[in-house]
Amino acid sequence: MKIEDCRIIDLPKISDPTKGNLTFIEANKHIPFEIKRVYYLYDVPGGGDRGEHAHKDLSQFIIAMSGSFDILLDDGHHKKKFHMNRAYYGLYLCPMIWRELDNFSSGSVCLVLASDFYKESDYIRDYDEFTKEIKKKVSH
Ligand code: TYD
Repeated sequence: MKIEDCRIIDLPKISDPTKGNLTFIEANKHIPFEIKRVYYLYDVPGGGDRGEHAHKDLSQFIIAMSGSFDILLDDGHHKKKFHMNRAYYGLYLCPMIWRELDNFSSGSVCLVLASDFYKESDYIRDYDEFTKEIKKKVSH
């Protein structure tokens, strides 16, 4: 559950000069989890921020299906920023990572594949609570 466990994963891309590109994702093959839920962010207004939370158990894979945005990750010790702007790669996020998404370009679409159904109890929405949880895990 460190920032090094989060990584960009390149996806297969079938290119055809007359038909365009096709990319696919298979659970447990291209991404390291079973997909139980898919959601997407779109029509994010200029200056809009999303995320600003961590998940206790959820794994996610985030793709810029269209346009671009930034993802800032924070494991309580280190921070890392990713610029997402292609549909043929995504960012894998393991549990217990604080994330902030911003700098959405106009018309951008952010697709998220998730390892579980929506559960509010899996969220940590307060940054101080997040750092406390990280410290607890380190001391165990
Ligand atoms: P949230 O995950 O907080 O969005 P973001 O971090 O991108 O700002 O979700 C926003 C709202 O949508 C919140 O009330 C919970 C609800 N929601 C669902 O009902 N199901 C879902 O799968 C997701 C992702 C959110």
